[in-house]
Amino acid sequence: MKVMVVGSGGREHALAWKIRQSSLVREVFALPGNPGMEAVARRLPGDPRDVATLVRAAEDNGIGLTVIGPEDPLAVGVVDTFTGRGLTVFGPTAAATVLESSKVFAKGLMREHGLPTADFRVFDSPEEARAYVAGLPEGPVVVKADGLSAGKGVAVAAGKAEALAAIEEIMVLKTFGPAGRRVVIEEFLTGEEVSVLALTDGEEVLTLGAAQDHKQIHDGDRGPNTGGMGAFSPVPAYTPEVGTVVEERILKPAVRAMAASGRPFRGTLFAGLMLTAGGPKVLEFNARFGDPETQVLLPRLRCDLVPLLLAAARGSLAGLRAEVSRDAAACVIMASSGYPGPYEKGLPITGLEEAAAAGATVFHAGTARDASGRLVTAGGRVLGVTAVGSDLAAAAARAYAAVERISFRGAHYRRDIGGRRRGAARKEG
Ligand code: AMP
Ligand code: GLY
Repeated sequence: MKVMVVGSGGREHALAWKIRQSSLVREVFALPGNPGMEAVARRLPGDPRDVATLVRAAEDNGIGLTVIGPEDPLAVGVVDTFTGRGLTVFGPTAAATVLESSKVFAKGLMREHGLPTADFRVFDSPEEARAYVAGLPEGPVVVKADGLSAGKGVAVAAGKAEALAAIEEIMVLKTFGPAGRRVVIEEFLTGEEVSVLALTDGEEVLTLGAAQDHKQIHDGDRGPNTGGMGAFSPVPAYTPEVGTVVEERILKPAVRAMAASGRPFRGTLFAGLMLTAGGPKVLEFNARFGDPETQVLLPRLRCDLVPLLLAAARGSLAGLRAEVSRDAAACVIMASSGYPGPYEKGLPITGLEEAAAAGATVFHAGTARDASGRLVTAGGRVLGVTAVGSDLAAAAARAYAAVERISFRGAHYRRDIGGRRRGAARKEG
């Protein structure tokens, strides 16, 4: 069959790479894809948010399965249109995507159905939000804008003054646009953060595994948040016992709650969790694969992904299992100098063949070809250098050996991906 992957980042490169390995798949298409994906997919031009373009691409090329990477095409109803035309597509409907796009909806659903999450209040006026913060004891509190704001509408405030400033920015200055009409103010949770990715067909849940993301730009989790500077999997704190609790108390109840609310959810259910002393609690749900979590989860998947995606899309996941390797995977993001602020583009990239020879798989994100066909930088996060090893230290060492062979001017990467665990392993040894 022919499969089309929609999107152009590292997550989509990893999806296309994994899908290409399927014995069921004759050809992979990527719309619009990126230069790295050319090794595994045929690229098609177009805007992934343009539903008509996607439908035409699927129909003209005889695509048997379309897999949506980012949230924007989901939110504008690509899945609804495809399904209406009898096209097989993996991802939730627009109605179900609100689980990600509205924090107020997600928190309300969790409260109504008893899913563990931070205690919270919702406000639609800045006066009431300020008055509420004024009445809280001094200490950290979290303020979240109620809409898609590219992961930036969340303020983890150290105290009341910062929380008041966040309310001002979100609700009054409207820095995040219409997402700032309402805010969720919630309890600050502590613990280890973990991303869990599961496939669901609206009833059954099949967990692919857990990964940990490194959001801040600098080593030691310092500096501003980014789209993600690296990831690793598995996560030692995510034990089989924790996994069972997450499936029984969070993932399955979430899928049942979505069906009960008239928004049956099919696709990837991504739970961002805090492993607190009182058990795992939901920070947020996403309606798609994570980036860069996908880049470390798919290399560990021993089985064919395509039958699982098809079963999730068709409602026949019951009885299927995912075979996940015991090996560890680490992904180090190489970013443009200046990111997440302004950065230069068009800088030549070298060393990718040497990186592959060092045993890494390099997933492209912000890359392009210049007029002479040379590979150049074209985004903030440029490459996701990924490697597998018998344990996290081995995987990270192999990824870093490959990173050192790649160059572009000003390349920035964290040197501590998976580092905390590596430090602990040294102490034990
Ligand atoms: P979210 O988009 O809701 O996942 O929030 C973005 C990030 O803010 C999370 O990945 C956490 O690092 C942090 N965060 C969100 N909610 C909380 C909370 N209640 N307590 C502590 N940190 C939080
Ligand atoms: N890595 C977090 C996300 O994909 O939202």
